[in-house]
Amino acid sequence: MNTSPYPHLQKIDDKPVTIADLAAMKAAGEKIACLTAYDASFAALEDRAGVDVVLVGDSLGMVVQGETSTTGVTIDDMVYHSRITAAGLSRAFLMTDLSFLTYATPDAALAASHRLMAEGGAHMVKIEGGAELVPTVRHLSTYGVPVCAHMGLRPQMVHKLGGFKVQGRDTAAAEQMVADAEALVEAGADIVLLECVPSHLGKTITERVSVPVIGIGAGGDTDGQILVVYDILGLSPGKKPRFVKNFLEGADSLDTATANYVAAVKDRSYPGPEHGFK
Ligand code: KIV
Repeated sequence: MNTSPYPHLQKIDDKPVTIADLAAMKAAGEKIACLTAYDASFAALEDRAGVDVVLVGDSLGMVVQGETSTTGVTIDDMVYHSRITAAGLSRAFLMTDLSFLTYATPDAALAASHRLMAEGGAHMVKIEGGAELVPTVRHLSTYGVPVCAHMGLRPQMVHKLGGFKVQGRDTAAAEQMVADAEALVEAGADIVLLECVPSHLGKTITERVSVPVIGIGAGGDTDGQILVVYDILGLSPGKKPRFVKNFLEGADSLDTATANYVAAVKDRSYPGPEHGFK
């Protein structure tokens, strides 16, 4: 008999998702459903709903800490949130962001990744960048750190970019992004995450690289989708990016809303053309 006052945190009995499972899903054409989480209760909710990959994103700087960008998030913040998210998971694969400027050199990236994996329970680290990160990705891969390369809109660059803007709209930038994605995968990246790029570019990169491509505002042809969990639950008031959909509308509980998100990714009804960029 379960006597815990928090039975929702009970572990589920499903086999944990591995990096090999994600590669097999791409090969089989099964969509990969991903969401952010920042603590054990949301992690457990997402596990129950069948989310395949949980990301402890440095978006926590904005949606948990209330800041206007992710640049103030520290590696200690990421370790803490990764650890308390891992505590709620039994099935989903756990990816955690390396925070701003913690991967400026390959050795710094290795040391910070060690903390996320050893202390934070992460299965994979995510870094934002293009071909300049090839030596870093190669270094991490050599030492057994699984890596997700976050391309397109890179929120840690917001002050350099002058805002959160769609990337890869002109031909030269799009071609560069395709070449960078190929170089990062060749260096050992296990997943590519594309944020805010035209849908046709999301499709091209997904076809060109051998590893799973997860999109957010990158159209419906990527191998998987990710959103910030508070966005699918309608917790973020005000103007929303066009790729956001509130799955709590019409659902009777958080569990149903989260399961509906997973089902919509799997059956390809989310994202629709209206959620993408041209
Ligand atoms: O930090 C984050 O939550 C992210 C997602 C928006 C992809 O990088």
